[in-house]
Amino acid sequence: MTPTVTSSNQIDLFPKTRYMGSKSKLLTAIEFASSRLTFDGVCDPFAGTGVVSYMYKALGSRVRTNDHMKMNSLASHALIENSEILLDEGSIENIVALSGTRGFISRTFEDIYFSEADNNFLDATRLYIDEELDGYAKSIAITALVRACVKKRPRGIFTYTGTRYNDGRRDLALSLRQHFVEQCSAINSAVFDNGLRSISYNTDALSLDAIDGELIYLDPPYFSEHSDNDYVRRYHFVEGLARNWEGLTLQAHTKTKKFRSYETPFSTRAGTYQAFEKIFSKYSKNPMLLSYSSNSLPSKTELENMLRNQGRTVEVTTTEHLYSFGTQNTVPSGQRNRVQEYLFIVT
Ligand SMILES: C[S@@+](CC[C@H](N)C(=O)[O-])C[C@H]1O[C@@H](n2cnc3c(N)ncnc32)[C@H](O)[C@@H]1O
Repeated sequence: MTPTVTSSNQIDLFPKTRYMGSKSKLLTAIEFASSRLTFDGVCDPFAGTGVVSYMYKALGSRVRTNDHMKMNSLASHALIENSEILLDEGSIENIVALSGTRGFISRTFEDIYFSEADNNFLDATRLYIDEELDGYAKSIAITALVRACVKKRPRGIFTYTGTRYNDGRRDLALSLRQHFVEQCSAINSAVFDNGLRSISYNTDALSLDAIDGELIYLDPPYFSEHSDNDYVRRYHFVEGLARNWEGLTLQAHTKTKKFRSYETPFSTRAGTYQAFEKIFSKYSKNPMLLSYSSNSLPSKTELENMLRNQGRTVEVTTTEHLYSFGTQNTVPSGQRNRVQEYLFIVT
């Protein structure tokens, strides 16, 4: 049995992972803003790692969490929707004992991201997961495998090939098998029950329904003319792994062997403006919190105007934030990017 908790200490158990735009360092500001609002349940349509959804679950809310990337929705399935199921020790031991197989991953991604031994481990484990696991246990295992790959990858992304940026860190020295065991343990320890029924979706954020009284936490990709905000391009390998590359169009001619990105309105300037208008009108009666940054479009004033035109009251708080991922075209690689992170409080 996992403990029933509604305590902020639980938040510290969320397994850490690197992800572009993660709000793990802004949770206090988000929690503080939420404490001033009245709501019943939380919806997080662009959940990414799920860390904000997890915080709300830990604070005692029912949560609807969503991301159009399968890897993120599985992580939320394992940690937010799931309240009690763990990946049992026997399954973890079986996976660790697997001898590697040379399958799709080893053949397609030879000498691209990981060693032959690591690729063989991925092939054997992915097969085992599909054949032997289901439900929340399967989501835990896939999430552990995804996070193992992100940990072992310098800078945590898959936009380049080879092992550039290897600074000798422990994370880069461990095998994927060792990382997998650590991640299983971290995820198992983070599963908890808050007594309410949460749910994880894997769909386009714009297709979710509005529910009266819910707090909507909005954290869409930040659009800028100077950088691309394509999550699928950065994480294609682990997103492919989560889906076992099923239904994806692999672009075999690319160096990184990425698949064709998903459609999202946030990839163009016009699409981004339209998406904000649609989202704001869909949730016109819900309290909302919106995370956005100072170097993105629409600007702070434009967003405030859109909301005020719908009769909403808006207050904006500002936090100085250092992102570990720069706007890739303007900031030299490896350098951090200082921006102002806005939190729009909309009532
Ligand atoms: C800024 S990140 C969210 C980060 C998250 N709050 C966290 O702390 O980890 C934006 C997320 O939106 C997702 N996304 C982009 N377009 C989407 C769409 N149309 N529907 C649902 N999710 C989308 C991306 O996959 C990405 O995970």
